[in-house]
Amino acid sequence: MESQAVSQLVARFEADFGGREGLLCSRAPGRVNLIGEHTDYNGGFVMPMAVDREVRLFFRPAQDGPVRIWSENYGEWDEFGLDDVRHNPAQAWSNYIRGVALTLQGAGYSLKPIEGIVCGDLPIGAGLSSSAAIEVATARAFCSASGIEPDSRALALLCQQAENRFVGVNCGIMDQFVSIHAQKEHALLLDCRSLEHELVPLDTGAVRVVVCNTMVHHELGSSAYNERRASCEEAARLLGERTEGVEMLRDVTPQMLKRNADVLDAVTLKRARHVVSEDERTTRAAQALKAGDYAEFGRLMYASHESLRDDYEVSCEELDIMVEAARGQKGVIGARMVGGGFGGCTVNLVEREHVAGFADSVTRAYQKATGIRPETYQFVAVDGASVEEC
Ligand code: GLA
Repeated sequence: MESQAVSQLVARFEADFGGREGLLCSRAPGRVNLIGEHTDYNGGFVMPMAVDREVRLFFRPAQDGPVRIWSENYGEWDEFGLDDVRHNPAQAWSNYIRGVALTLQGAGYSLKPIEGIVCGDLPIGAGLSSSAAIEVATARAFCSASGIEPDSRALALLCQQAENRFVGVNCGIMDQFVSIHAQKEHALLLDCRSLEHELVPLDTGAVRVVVCNTMVHHELGSSAYNERRASCEEAARLLGERTEGVEMLRDVTPQMLKRNADVLDAVTLKRARHVVSEDERTTRAAQALKAGDYAEFGRLMYASHESLRDDYEVSCEELDIMVEAARGQKGVIGARMVGGGFGGCTVNLVEREHVAGFADSVTRAYQKATGIRPETYQFVAVDGASVEEC
């Protein structure tokens, strides 16, 4: 976040809360997933990186009384008591904060109230995980104010639980995990079942990550997300009846799926085929990145997009147009949709010297085809969440 914006927020904090004594800043980044889409809730592999857009919560412990938070993005206050945390139907943004407070307390942590200002420069609803960023920034702020320090994996799981149970989106662990554990200049290869992870260096001298925002967000997103997840669980259950040891689609190989295709209906088979093939692509992509084989990485990105479009059916016309607009531009190595789908962004791997030209030409091509002016961002990989003095 720009330093001018930060100074203005600190000034606002001083005015609203009577001085800046004890003021701290909890920051948590958004993410872009390079490959491994819709695999996390199947126990599979993902490879995201944290981006240099984030949520910041300027806060300090409040001695007693309610939690009081101003949202700079929404221009609204929220206030609630820690002994009676309820859903707030009028202010969607505040449920991420409330959900995290309730979940931490449900896990046995004794929290102190906080007062503060939350703001972010992540595009909201664009598939870059502004939700996970606000959850993680909130969790870290409460932990710091209350003098508690849960293990970082446990904290990621609690944030995910807040989103699953309080917000009502049955998301996997990828977004919260990377927002906490990311490291600058690296992507993070995560095994979503064991939560073991490995950092994979990104050679920014050679390639850059460019994200293109379609600027559309189709409403069916979250119901379709929960439906896809349910289909995957059903597929794993049916395949598990035939083959011992199959608990999640992560346990299914492409050969096993082919041999047992008859137990699944045609649609469920397509869903499972995406997940099983995407897991394989993700582990191959990690090897390619380590070996500097960008051409292979790019091929896997395009294949990932095609599988999300044709088998998992979570793309949309605008995302497909954006990927096609990228393909064939000078210096483009690979492109695919990112996140849950049905709008939001594509991620593109581009040769460093062609980044500026790429952003211009893809903007023109997309605008010509859709009449919508897209945004493009050249992100760098940053460190995960932190609490700092400010
Ligand atoms: C959303 C969810 C993640 C993940 C992706 C799809 O971002 O929050 O957990 O499932 O969709 O890969």
